[in-house]
Amino acid sequence: MTQSSLLGISGSLRRESFNRKLMHEAARHFDADSFVVADLNLPLYDGDLETAHGIPASVQRLADQIAAADAVVISGPEYNKSVSGVLKNALDWVSRTEGNPWRDKPVAIMAATGGRAGGERTQFALRLCMVPFRPRLLMGPEVLVGAAKDQFDAAGRLTDARYETALKTLMQDLRAAAGL
Ligand SMILES: Cc1cc2nc3c(=O)[nH]c(=O)nc-3n(C[C@H](O)[C@H](O)[C@H](O)COP(=O)(O)O)c2cc1C
Repeated sequence: MTQSSLLGISGSLRRESFNRKLMHEAARHFDADSFVVADLNLPLYDGDLETAHGIPASVQRLADQIAAADAVVISGPEYNKSVSGVLKNALDWVSRTEGNPWRDKPVAIMAATGGRAGGERTQFALRLCMVPFRPRLLMGPEVLVGAAKDQFDAAGRLTDARYETALKTLMQDLRAAAGL
């Protein structure tokens, strides 16, 4: 039997990150045989560092995880109406690795934010950032969890049925895009 695998990426390093929680909720609905959480705690991209030492092991690990996954889900916070530096740094580093692990990869993006709009602009910005990598980026449904501090219970479950329904559909579509 084919084993399914999902890679989860949170654009926030914060331990209690709402994007991390949303990523785990997505994984629950995707229900992969193997769920791997990416570590974006990478050095800042620095061309001198790359020239002197090549691709850091942590970056290569991330690129390999993307390549190996059937599908990837990214949940990113909105920082000043755009993508977090942590997430952009990771995308830039991975673009420096051999080959392109994103090519044709089924990818779903989501956002959880403090603001009520739920990160519409960070979603749009992230979509733009992904263009050079040519993944199979799902168009929707958009999962934009606004006022995130009020949207999760103590167990990290989404409390609003509307978000839950949209997330479920997004993950069903992601599974389908991955041929699962
Ligand atoms: C530098 C910074 C910029 C932020 N900019 C926005 C913003 O533009 N829109 C918004 O809705 N929330 C903004 N926030 C609030 C974040 O959405 C909120 O802190 C969110 O919980 C961060 O995601 P996390 O819980 O996954 O760490 C900002 C927070 C920080 C630290």
